[in-house]
Amino acid sequence: MKKKPEFMNFAVDHMTLLLHPKLYTVAYALFRIVFGTTPEDLLYEKRRPAKGADPETSMTFATRIGQWKSTEKSELSTIIAVVQPSEPKDEPSHVRQMLDSHNQAAHWQHIALRTPDLLAFHKHAAERSVQFVTPILKDEHENLIQVFSGEWYFPGIRSSGLFFEFLQRDPSDDAVAEVQKANKQTWFRDETFMGLYFEKEREYQSGKVVPFLPEKLFGMITNFIGTKQVWDLTESDLGKIEQMMLDFPKT
Ligand SMILES: [Fe+2]
Repeated sequence: MKKKPEFMNFAVDHMTLLLHPKLYTVAYALFRIVFGTTPEDLLYEKRRPAKGADPETSMTFATRIGQWKSTEKSELSTIIAVVQPSEPKDEPSHVRQMLDSHNQAAHWQHIALRTPDLLAFHKHAAERSVQFVTPILKDEHENLIQVFSGEWYFPGIRSSGLFFEFLQRDPSDDAVAEVQKANKQTWFRDETFMGLYFEKEREYQSGKVVPFLPEKLFGMITNFIGTKQVWDLTESDLGKIEQMMLDFPKT
């Protein structure tokens, strides 16, 4: 087989995400708390100056969510997966709905982030009330485990159709055993794709799409943030938001 030229060997560099202002500052808090970013990971944060009655506003920020040293052992690949609405016109299709409801021909649906310990990340996120739409799934063919989050949107607006996949390649036998014990069955490649597919279909048909954070918790965080900008959120503020997330199941 012809070898692919090195200049076309792509790795993930960054992904750009457009966010509604109501989600923007909450997202910053989520990156800090759920994704574990530090102030040093904030690569830039640009502001639009105050003008008349409009206050200074954060325009854009970029945050590093991971750093990798390439070793011979770790093989990193970059993949684009594509899905089209394949259902007949008279049948419901969450894929068609995601595109049509946003008047879009293309839309980034999920971003897969690799972690070296999915069970630990899943526990960390679930303890902070992050919602997942599937259990952790095991892919029999590809030796990876994966889980899918709820969508990034907020109460009172239509769902965004954007969510995260978290995955671990080459999980240990113990990790796999734990996943299989929890699921009480083995998930095969087609079933993991279909598992997510049918879950999304079920959500879109029921009109209740699971959000990344429970609606009430989102409201509590939004109230706490108020009119604060990204740069106004102190470490103590983030600690309070994280505590709200940890305590939420009890409220
Ligand atoms: Fe995926």
